[in-house]
Amino acid sequence: AASAAAAAVSRLTRWADDFPVAGVRFADLTPVFAEATGFAAVVDALAEIGPDADVIAGIDARGFLLGGGVANARGCGLLAVRKGGKLPPPVLSREYDLEYGTARLELPADGLDLRGRRVLIIDDVLATGGTLAAAAELVIAAGATVVATAVVLELSFLGGRGKVAEASGMAPLTALLQL
Ligand code: PRP
Ligand code: MG
Repeated sequence: AASAAAAAVSRLTRWADDFPVAGVRFADLTPVFAEATGFAAVVDALAEIGPDADVIAGIDARGFLLGGGVANARGCGLLAVRKGGKLPPPVLSREYDLEYGTARLELPADGLDLRGRRVLIIDDVLATGGTLAAAAELVIAAGATVVATAVVLELSFLGGRGKVAEASGMAPLTALLQL
């Protein structure tokens, strides 16, 4: 399943130069997910990633697309890690750096008990690692354990993997395709 996913990602990814800012080459996986075989291959491959988890966390917004499919396939709960300002208070919040400026990710701080839960965090692309690291810090701040992290595409030349490893307590990080 992982090789079918990698093939679909290689074939269908939409690359954009100088987006969202000059000097950045943006990987848009929209066409991969729009293709039935592409979406199935990616979700199936992510659903096979160990170790056992009870919750799949998907990161706003593209990680939601994958997290829903993977949680359903594995029989897990689905945790939406939201961009800042989307959830009513109280929230747990982590700021992270973008190519320019900062952004925030948030989780509910009440009404949801994540203590002791085993969480697999999923996103579409790993670039600088700021997004995935912030999500890992939030999940840990909520009292859960990050058992693994996974992305469809890792832009390894940006060095995000180390940042995610540190933030997640050295949880294994799987990428279906590394460039
Ligand atoms: C993109 C992508 C990852 C993140 C990777 O999300 O979906 O979440 O950037 O970058 P990083 O590793 O440097 O943090 P974006 O913030 O563009 O938002 P979206 O998912 O809502 O489209
Ligand atoms: Mg994103």
